[in-house]
Amino acid sequence: MSPSLPEIRATLSRAYDLSPSLDLAEATRGIWGRMARVVPFADWAMHAPYVQAINRLKAERGAVVLAHNYMTPEIYHGIADVVGDSLQLAIAATRVDAPVIVQCGVHFMAETSKILNPCKTVLMPDMAAGCSLAEAITPEGIAEMRARYPGAPVVSYVNTTAAVKAASDICCTSANAAQIVRALPGDTVIMAPDKYLAQNVARQVPEKRVVWWDGACIVHERFTAQDLRDFRAFQPDTTIIAHPECPPDVVAEADYTGSTAGIIDFVARERPTKALLVTECSMASNIADAHPAVEFVGPCNMCPYMKMITLEKVLWSLHSMTTPVEVAAELVAPARAAVERMIALSAAKAAA
Ligand code: 13P
Ligand code: SF4
Repeated sequence: MSPSLPEIRATLSRAYDLSPSLDLAEATRGIWGRMARVVPFADWAMHAPYVQAINRLKAERGAVVLAHNYMTPEIYHGIADVVGDSLQLAIAATRVDAPVIVQCGVHFMAETSKILNPCKTVLMPDMAAGCSLAEAITPEGIAEMRARYPGAPVVSYVNTTAAVKAASDICCTSANAAQIVRALPGDTVIMAPDKYLAQNVARQVPEKRVVWWDGACIVHERFTAQDLRDFRAFQPDTTIIAHPECPPDVVAEADYTGSTAGIIDFVARERPTKALLVTECSMASNIADAHPAVEFVGPCNMCPYMKMITLEKVLWSLHSMTTPVEVAAELVAPARAAVERMIALSAAKAAA
């Protein structure tokens, strides 16, 4: 039986000095400087003891932390060895030498790391950190789509379980979805499970008939085109930057749409005076200090799954080496093939 939160806290406080410390905050000002615009120094005094304990434990355990762009700033800047979008994290997972990976992100990301590293330990700080898209489809759903569109290739978003990946021909992420669909044979391509990503790809790849499963991201489906029009009328000098999990009419209102890494690159390249990031809250927080001249304006929606990952849970995960992600042996090879096909296709395109 897993220990209760009070038991976890008691164990951690016996093993590490986790009391807020202004002295430690001062000594680690260099790390704080990467998030000073969004994390008050007093808050850093609470985070710094956890960051120090985690970074020491990482060295002891030979662990690397792979963190998604939606992690909170203290995770993103304080403890991550690699940060990125889903594609960058999957590619990073193929290059890890360390025996232990701590996945700061959601479950499907940890599963992808495990699929690519079946012999390594991949730790998930909170197994309940799921994803509304990964929950939207099962292998039976993929079989249903195959029956409905015989012979059409299946592209599953990486935001899926290992079982769904194993039932698919190839994966995609928001960074390469159009490129993957364009490269597949035949007139019809099945995309699952994100209907909005599929509809956005269909506009980019008009030469294909793209059909989709009826799933959506609970964070991005909440943005509306009217919100963006209202915002633009109120602050016309704002550059609107969206994620392709948003509905197509929202994407149509945006000045740029891309994966979370694409959004970071766009802000760095274009340096807008005011930027509205139509995506998860922590994105703007994580890049605010790197772009002091950019004013990041609301709104922002939080991903309840991503926000389950906290410094305390990461510390417990490394301390207790829990919870290792497991993927059923029979799923590893077919799921890996779908992910590797995607990585190979993305690499070939990047090299071209
Ligand atoms: P990215 O691949 O763009 O990082 O997106 C992952 C995700 O879950 C967005 O909601
Ligand atoms: Fe899933 Fe949406 Fe959260 Fe990304 S933001 S993990 S797609 S629920």
